[in-house]
Amino acid sequence: MKAMRIALLGAGTVASGVVRVLQRNQDELCRRAGRGIEVVAVAARDAAKARRAIGETLALTDDFMGLATREDVDIVAELMGGIEPARELVLAAIRAGKHVVTANKALLALHGNEIFAAAQEHGVMVAFEAAVAGGIPIIKAVREGLAANRIEWVAGIINGTTNFILSSMRDKGVDFATALAEAQRLGYAEADPTFDIDGVDAAHKITILCAIAFGVPVQFDRVHVQGIRDLETADIRYAEQLGYRIKLLGITRRAEDGIELRVHPTLIPATRLVANVEGAMNAVVVQGDAVGSTLFYGKGAGSEPTASSVIADLVDITRLHTADPEHRVPHLAFQPGALADTPILAMPQVRTSYYLRIHVRDEAGVLAEITHILAEHGMSIDALLQRPSGEDDQHTDVILLTHETLEQRMDQALARIQALDTVLAPVVRLRKEELR
Ligand code: NDP
Ligand code: HSE
Repeated sequence: MKAMRIALLGAGTVASGVVRVLQRNQDELCRRAGRGIEVVAVAARDAAKARRAIGETLALTDDFMGLATREDVDIVAELMGGIEPARELVLAAIRAGKHVVTANKALLALHGNEIFAAAQEHGVMVAFEAAVAGGIPIIKAVREGLAANRIEWVAGIINGTTNFILSSMRDKGVDFATALAEAQRLGYAEADPTFDIDGVDAAHKITILCAIAFGVPVQFDRVHVQGIRDLETADIRYAEQLGYRIKLLGITRRAEDGIELRVHPTLIPATRLVANVEGAMNAVVVQGDAVGSTLFYGKGAGSEPTASSVIADLVDITRLHTADPEHRVPHLAFQPGALADTPILAMPQVRTSYYLRIHVRDEAGVLAEITHILAEHGMSIDALLQRPSGEDDQHTDVILLTHETLEQRMDQALARIQALDTVLAPVVRLRKEELR
């Protein structure tokens, strides 16, 4: 049978992995897919750089649009990143009847609804396994493997760069900048690493997971995003003393009045498996009503791990492309006409528990005032530590863990605590999840 013909847009970290793995495993892939999978050409703007990445044998072009719409191409793999021209090229490929594979979570989080609607209209598949958690087949797992379930929540370490930085800072004592430079050298970081550090990359990914877990449109504008830039080592240390690790988590949860969708540094019990995911590794916990808790672990970035997911999509499309479009797996797991309009909750409506570090003057009654305010706002304390802040014996850090409450209540209580004369610095507030 004629081989499936692939166009690669971009010749960077992921594309070079795709080329290598396709070449290395071509016999096995042919046996899996039922026919060969062949790269017809690669589009790149810097030919010399591209040659270093993909070798000398494949055809190269700088005409991205020409390749994306070329008549003899069956699947376009968009491995460039960014919004434009990736969006324009993907839409042009779809309109030209090509199936699309993309690793571009930013594009899907922002323009997924438009892209999936166009794909639906033109009867083509858009596959995006590599866009979330690199080499972990989490999209397929949630969309297909867990299809029986009403998903309750998804929580994941879905950015390798920040996990690598947090692990290096905690274990090796290296500073933030050194850890980031190493993550960049290893090819984990985005072209713009602020996307990693500020939680934006994780927000792109949890937005996509939210859509396929709950059958809602992709809504990047509704996600609450907080990165690790301001995280202090003191809080990592205090969290450990209380039996917790701090991880940058993407969380989406079905609540009574809507869906929670958030990314922030999160305390999780050190005894949870996911708390022990270190370095650039990713892990996603999915809680379903039938299956219970499931954990997916693996490399969330890097050339060949990401290529593993891109090629899995190429194989899937090769197997399914002759199927009637009506009978294919829906892009967003639920039938396009059956997407729900469940609202994404604003942060004040979210329920979670908290870690507070309050830097206070060390005098009688301070703790009583703080706990009194928390009690007035209906908050119950789970654990408490007091530690000298290192300045002198007149100042101290009070560290509190609360039980679950509404974020709005915490906002109100914190405003009052912050206004106390005895509170000497901005209160550090981190969220805590037990992930039961
Ligand atoms: P790279 O920067 O290594 O490669 C991108 C390629 O696309 C390069 O050839 C680059 O050219 C080209 N390119 C980028 N922008 C343009 C443009 N505007 N016009 C023409 N060519 C362009 O990126 P990665 O391979 O790391 O990432 C590719 C995609 O995969 C991104 O969406 C990323 O988020 C995603 N991804 C990456 C992972 C990873 O581990 N790296 C993991 C999971 C997903 P040039 O070299 O000239 O800049
Ligand atoms: N920059 C991303 C990360 C790459 O660090 O996880 C994988 O999407």
